[in-house]
Amino acid sequence: MNKSSRWIGSLLAGLTMALAFAAGPALAEEDRHGMENDMPIPTDDAALANGKDRFQARCSYCHLPDGRGGSSGVKLAGQKYKHGSKSSQIYATIAAGKPYTKMGAFASTLSSEEILNIVAYIRYLQEWKLKDDAAAEGGAK
Ligand code: HEC
Repeated sequence: MNKSSRWIGSLLAGLTMALAFAAGPALAEEDRHGMENDMPIPTDDAALANGKDRFQARCSYCHLPDGRGGSSGVKLAGQKYKHGSKSSQIYATIAAGKPYTKMGAFASTLSSEEILNIVAYIRYLQEWKLKDDAAAEGGAK
């Protein structure tokens, strides 16, 4: 190998590493499937604890305590949502329910603050699932 081909070799190795690094975060964004908080959700521990408590009491019966399926078959801990994964869309699904399905409306039995806390807890479950998937793929956590 002459000097210049060695130089090109190390340049290519460097480029490959740079590309792999750049592709990492972009791929993760794609995996999020529109998990956008267009409606602000609480981030403090008390809100999250209340959201978890309300979720276990009112939702886990159908969606399982970890949000990974259950009798509804709907995985809230995943990223692909039929009715949209923006915080405003999840809020609307919980408040108004989905007619002709077992998903009832909770606007009359949960306060808007409680619903927002639940949305925050669902985000936590989704982030947890993303980390699990990344670990399963052997990628960085
Ligand atoms: C009696 C069973 C049941 C309970 C209790 C229940 N759900 Fe559901 N949920 C369902 C079913 C079934 C669907 C699927 C509706 C459809 O096919 O459109 C669903 C759908 C959803 C969706 C939409 C998912 C998507 O893909 O867009 C969200 C968000 C959701 N539920 C949140 C909750 C929350 C939060 C609670 C508690 C406050 C709750 N659910 C309680 C049965 C239930």
